[in-house]
Amino acid sequence: MTIEQTLILIKPDGVRRGLVGEIIARFERKGFKIKALKMLKFTKELAEKFYHVHRGKEFFKSLIEFMTSGPVVALVIESDSAISVARNMIGPTDGRQAPPGTIRGDYSLSKSENVVHASDSPTSAKYEISVIFKPDEIIEW
Ligand code: CMP
Repeated sequence: MTIEQTLILIKPDGVRRGLVGEIIARFERKGFKIKALKMLKFTKELAEKFYHVHRGKEFFKSLIEFMTSGPVVALVIESDSAISVARNMIGPTDGRQAPPGTIRGDYSLSKSENVVHASDSPTSAKYEISVIFKPDEIIEW
């Protein structure tokens, strides 16, 4: 058993489309503990810091424009093997290829506007959580 925390973002398209409750409910029903939760609007600087590993890629500029186009909802969720479980629940990047039953498979037809983000490794989870949340915003319970 490996208890992990991971960072989930409900992206601007997910917020605009009224999917916040639906997406949070899926993680709650699965059994994750919500350890932190907030709505925020990314500045360009914060979005570039969050997605620094993608700097230089052809989609970086449009990714930053999209992620700053409206509010996002960020969560820290915790479970045994949280990082891989959450990644399996959101599905592959491209909503057109994501299988039904995954969040992207059920709600996205796009590779860029794909509703949700989840950290892909322990290193990125630690980094992404620290970019969005102060340590005292993560609640022990
Ligand atoms: P996400 O899991 O948040 O991580 C990086 C994001 O870049 C990805 O989801 C997509 O929203 C976005 N993106 C846009 N184009 C591409 C692409 N060609 N390959 C990977 N990610 C892309």
